[in-house]
Amino acid sequence: MLLDRIKDAIDFIRMQSQLKPKIGITLGSGLSLFAEEIDIECSIPYADIPHFVPPSIDGHPGQLVLGRVGDTPVVVLQGRIHYYEGHSMNQVVFPTRVLAQMGIETLILTNAAGGIDPQMKAGDFMIITDHINLTGNNPLIGPNIQELGLRFPDMSEAYDRELNEKLSRLLTQLKIRHFKGVYCGVSGPTYETSAEVKFLQKIGGSAVGMSTVPETIAAKHMGLRVCGISCITNLATGISTGKVTHEEVKETAKKVEESFVHFLKEFITH
Ligand code: HPA
Repeated sequence: MLLDRIKDAIDFIRMQSQLKPKIGITLGSGLSLFAEEIDIECSIPYADIPHFVPPSIDGHPGQLVLGRVGDTPVVVLQGRIHYYEGHSMNQVVFPTRVLAQMGIETLILTNAAGGIDPQMKAGDFMIITDHINLTGNNPLIGPNIQELGLRFPDMSEAYDRELNEKLSRLLTQLKIRHFKGVYCGVSGPTYETSAEVKFLQKIGGSAVGMSTVPETIAAKHMGLRVCGISCITNLATGISTGKVTHEEVKETAKKVEESFVHFLKEFITH
């Protein structure tokens, strides 16, 4: 049973630390340096936590970190697993569900994404105002677990307006170039064709990526406040010339990682 599996994982984590986190943070591709800002209580490889799946992708270390940023107790997922790795949606969102059951109130999701808005440049950030689920799946398909949430969760404010305003204020204050926009969540692992990117533009997308959407859905199901920030690591296919590569994605994320880490720390402590 899912609830038992979540409990197994939490029992194991609590054996390492009793800290009650208020905020959960999922760190995307190349953005894992943030863990260095944490006054760490414990750091647990996913491979050790019952029912967690270790990530297989370069740039995703795969550990759960519990500690404090300033005075705020946090739990950080340093690296995530993706649907394209071949795991079920339930496995993909399992760590998110564990964080929610640990009692966090807010979840901050970060990711690397391709920019669809032609004004974007590699290295910009985008505050996610909404998403379009194009994965062809949904982590809530299957019997609803009433203890976790409603059968038909509302998604009218998937990304919390107040948190987004705070993100925007802070990014402006820190003079970090940023956009607000709609994140198109696809399955991957192929990057998009030019025709697909034109389609995403037409349906109102601003950026495209292979994560986040399942996690947001699972988190909203469980009543969390969610916000999301994309690092635009590249322009999506056809928006600029040239190929999209994982190397470029990692390279850009590395370049902006320092300002991103600083920004995230400010966001949590203010
Ligand atoms: N497409 C999909 N996912 C991505 C991209 C992209 O261009 N860049 C980083 N993640």
